[in-house]
Amino acid sequence: MAMNLQLSVIGCGYLGVTHAACMSSLGFNVVGVETDARKVAMLQKGELPFYEPGLDTLLAQEIASGRLTFTTDVSAIKDADLHFICVGTPQRSDSFAADLTYVDSAIEAIAPHLKPGALVAGKSTVPVGTAQRLRERLAVTAPQAELAWNPEFLREGFAVEDTLRPNRLVVGVTSDRAEEILKQAYEPVIALGTPWIRADLPTAELVKVAANSFLATKISFINAMAEICEAADGDVTVLAQAIGYDPRIGNKFLQAGIGFGGGCLPKDIRAFMARAEELGAKQALEFLREVDAINLRARLRVIEVVRSELGRDLTARKIAILGTTFKPDSDDVRDSPALDIAVQLHRAGAQVLVHDPKGIKPAKARFPELNFEEDVYTTLKDAELTLHLTEWKEYRALDPVEIASIVKDKIMIDGRNLLNRELWRAAGWKFRALGRSD
Ligand code: UDX
Repeated sequence: MAMNLQLSVIGCGYLGVTHAACMSSLGFNVVGVETDARKVAMLQKGELPFYEPGLDTLLAQEIASGRLTFTTDVSAIKDADLHFICVGTPQRSDSFAADLTYVDSAIEAIAPHLKPGALVAGKSTVPVGTAQRLRERLAVTAPQAELAWNPEFLREGFAVEDTLRPNRLVVGVTSDRAEEILKQAYEPVIALGTPWIRADLPTAELVKVAANSFLATKISFINAMAEICEAADGDVTVLAQAIGYDPRIGNKFLQAGIGFGGGCLPKDIRAFMARAEELGAKQALEFLREVDAINLRARLRVIEVVRSELGRDLTARKIAILGTTFKPDSDDVRDSPALDIAVQLHRAGAQVLVHDPKGIKPAKARFPELNFEEDVYTTLKDAELTLHLTEWKEYRALDPVEIASIVKDKIMIDGRNLLNRELWRAAGWKFRALGRSD
């Protein structure tokens, strides 16, 4: 029964490709629609336009199975029963609000091709109220179809795992029938014991931004504690470990450092504030402004540590930067604290050399003026100071004794609080980190 459902995925970026490949791996026929012909050409060949562990293999396997196809032709969705909207909702260039252009045009584009009884399930992160507005629009353009909202919580680096084994499934629906269709689609995932939450449309939309706001708040909380630890000669890593043993607090997302970035957390908290203001509930989310400010301050604080080591004038000082992506196991540099710090140091006149296992190409596309190095040892050569900014495994595997002879000065600043301080100090390095005073 379940396997008879035909699916479409509208928008084949990070979320769409992951969702399409994962649903195909569950046995469904899936057609992915994407307006960018270059992306479609790659995907049709089973090539992934970005880096995500395990997704390349899954994509190739599902294309080969014949269940998964990609096209630029939106009319290819006409036989599908269930359509997942996976287009992006970036921050608008003129305000904090989300840009809904892609969501709106996706709905317009599919409307004429929806078959009677088709269910459209939005997965994109949208301001609360969008689903109701789209529902009203569909009632005009495609009264034969129905709308639901099904937010996505996947993390980059764990996209496949989070899609096939999510910690919950949330569906915002306005009828039992819509819930039933979504249950059919997720049957194998539900069978794993995944909690299933039925909500109304606004609540489903809110769950996503509420979750991301909470995560952002947790990170900024520990970074605020890092500031206090620095002022009071404490150690935020010990503090985080100690408070984390309280199960009400928990030990996850308490890693102090240069803060959060990426395509979700920063833009989602800003769009949430903008939406709250529109709703007349601005005050309720004032704290997110502080969360944002603490987060951006972490980037400046690490630059202050650099200046305290090298002096105010950074002109021509040679700085090695380890990491450009916003997190490891990703090639995503959107709003990356690491890349931001590299750019700021470059603009201050320093001679920065930047390394990343996966993020050089996208970083170069944004900031061609930076110097990038494919080889980590060449990056470190003659460095007067080294910054560890993205917590890739390979950086933790670096041997401080071995690289001591490569750099000019043995100064390591750990922007992620993940290197083994004792090991580096034993090898003669001056080791500094955010939130640790000594
Ligand atoms: C996030 C949410 O986790 C996910 O559920 C949602 O669907 C999309 O947004 P993602 O952007 O992939 O996922 O990254 P995440 O793992 O949440 O990390 C976000 C940022 O916070 C990274 O820059 C990371 O380095 C930083 N971070 C995370 C910290 O600085 N400290 C921590 O303790 C945890």
